[in-house]
Amino acid sequence: MIDASVIRTLFKGQLDAIKDASVRDKVIQAWLLGCDRGNWSSVEELRGMPFTLLTNSQEISFIEHTIAVTEGAIGLANAQLSAYSKMPFEIDMDRLIAGGLLHDVGKLLEIGPDGKGSYKKTHSGRCARHPISGAILTAEVGLPDEYVNIVACHAKEGEGKPQVIETILIHQADLATFDPLTFKNRGDLIE
Ligand SMILES: [Fe+2]
Repeated sequence: MIDASVIRTLFKGQLDAIKDASVRDKVIQAWLLGCDRGNWSSVEELRGMPFTLLTNSQEISFIEHTIAVTEGAIGLANAQLSAYSKMPFEIDMDRLIAGGLLHDVGKLLEIGPDGKGSYKKTHSGRCARHPISGAILTAEVGLPDEYVNIVACHAKEGEGKPQVIETILIHQADLATFDPLTFKNRGDLIE
């Protein structure tokens, strides 16, 4: 069974860095709602879920990807905060961390076990991609519109659309984890 303590354990380092306890709780609620709607009931199954079906995930899991993107976005924020004498925009770190943890939460509805030991796109995923289903989960748990912007606009759905700064940073951190795999999988990564 997947309950709040499971989610807290999976993302302990990142959740602990969120200062506002109500934001932290809502992130956990959104994950639980996603697990419930996507019929994820065992931690092992959840840990085995690949982060994408679009390219060979090279055994990088959905949970590992979520942590890497969140930490990457934090790194991008901190790099600018420490290098600039004057920040041209304000970064909300709670929003950034929560947004990183939630950016792909809709994949809990988009990807499911195929019954043959692998994973496939679900009916829900065919009806709405994860940025849409994830934005719905984010709004449902009561997180503000700016958080919804992060989830809704972190991928191609957000191209050319207005974005909060946290969406931009999470989008770039997401690309930085995805692109190396697409380069590698098509033979263009020089190793
Ligand atoms: Fe992602």
